[in-house]
Amino acid sequence: MSESSGATPRLTLLRGDITEQQVDAIVNAANSSLLGGGGVDGAIHRRGGPEILEECRALRASKYGRGLPTGRAAATTAGRLPARWVIHTVGPVFSSSDDRSELLADCHRNSLLVAEELGARSVAFPAISTGVYRWPIDDAAIIALRTVSQAPSSVAEIRFVLFDDRALTAFRQAADSLGLPLG
Ligand code: APR
Repeated sequence: MSESSGATPRLTLLRGDITEQQVDAIVNAANSSLLGGGGVDGAIHRRGGPEILEECRALRASKYGRGLPTGRAAATTAGRLPARWVIHTVGPVFSSSDDRSELLADCHRNSLLVAEELGARSVAFPAISTGVYRWPIDDAAIIALRTVSQAPSSVAEIRFVLFDDRALTAFRQAADSLGLPLG
């Protein structure tokens, strides 16, 4: 982790459901429409309630008229969820011919920047792009953990919430290969 503002964000990995996390902000693996979907997106909207979609629609009616671009991040209320905010980010769809790694890294960098702007002290990420968008979990884990460990951030805790054992194992192995201490 980089030394910024003296603190080093604590990095934790756990198997669970991101909608249940008691953190300030959870990151949504959204799509550019911001109007919901399946996977994490579906779970967050379903459990968070209509306020989230209302604020997503407001984002589409203002700053993101053409949709949220891949790699960018934007926050809304978390509605009925334990978290205060949802940070929506659009992961790249995996391509074996086109290296989109930097866009996946941007999702994590930009989500942390938005979290800082909000004053969030704890942020939970899902394994962005590794479901519908088909990014291989092992590679996504390396990109995600390397990016957050190198991003200067005043966030106190960065949590990765993995939905199954395979993803948790992939992130543990990635943290180990990157030499990252886990909180
Ligand atoms: N909590 C944590 N992780 C979850 C949850 C949950 N409740 N539900 C699914 N996941 C995991 C999946 O197992 C996968 O590892 O989140 C990861 C990301 O999968 P997706 O949600 O499919 O997201 P992504 O691959 O980024 O595709 C985004 O899917 O749902 C649509 O609207 C979304 O079009 C967008 C696309």
